[in-house]
Amino acid sequence: MKNKKIIVAGNWKMNKTYLEAKEFIAKLNQLPDYTSQVIIAAPSLYVDTLFINNQKENLALALQNCSAYESGAFTGEISARMIASLQLKYCIVGHSERRSYFEETDEIISDKIAQLIHYNVQPIFCIGETLQERKVNETFNVIRKQLVRGLEKVPVEKIGNIVLAYEPVWAIGTGITATKEQAEEVHKFIFQLLSEIYNPEAAARIPILYGGSCNEKNAEELFYQPHIWGGLIGGASLDVNSFYKIIQIAEKINGK
Ligand code: 13P
Repeated sequence: MKNKKIIVAGNWKMNKTYLEAKEFIAKLNQLPDYTSQVIIAAPSLYVDTLFINNQKENLALALQNCSAYESGAFTGEISARMIASLQLKYCIVGHSERRSYFEETDEIISDKIAQLIHYNVQPIFCIGETLQERKVNETFNVIRKQLVRGLEKVPVEKIGNIVLAYEPVWAIGTGITATKEQAEEVHKFIFQLLSEIYNPEAAARIPILYGGSCNEKNAEELFYQPHIWGGLIGGASLDVNSFYKIIQIAEKINGK
């Protein structure tokens, strides 16, 4: 992929107290600057303070979820419009934990993506198969269905605002990382699908991150694969030193 620039994104999920989150950012501020795009999806409650405390130009704070609705009587929800009003650039959508524990369907996810795109917040759109689905050779069908349905409301002129993340469910939080061959095979498939749905030029500009037990030990070989544009990192993003090591791998590959 010609213009590929590695992106390192952390997903903290429901971890860290306010103090712990602030300490992480303070420590990251002390470490040498980097030029790669780095994203941290923090608990929404802290995102604004972390945004203010952050001194790294290339660190974007992000949300982990947003509402499928525009505004109104939806107690407890956070809208894409609210996210945009804080000048936040990214929001995770369609994470497998939201699909399975909170019963988010492809239709709900497609509405969330439409909201984010409308307000110029870039969705980090997650797709991935379960172990059972992989075992019965359903991986590509599942990926196709999730991708096509999720992007249903995204016209070609907006596709440049999407970041994709391939997260095989069997690799999330299990310590079982997809091999570089397994990951590359699906990433390439996603790229080909995007080329079909939109066009090859548009598809070549869409970052596809890998997520699922990605850490400082396996990130390098994964990130060197032609269709892997970086990582969406859970567990290893919670420790600033591990996370920074992954940023350094991105720096190396990005040629800085
Ligand atoms: P782990 O890196 O902890 O497997 O989590 C991956 C993930 O779900 C990122 O969104």
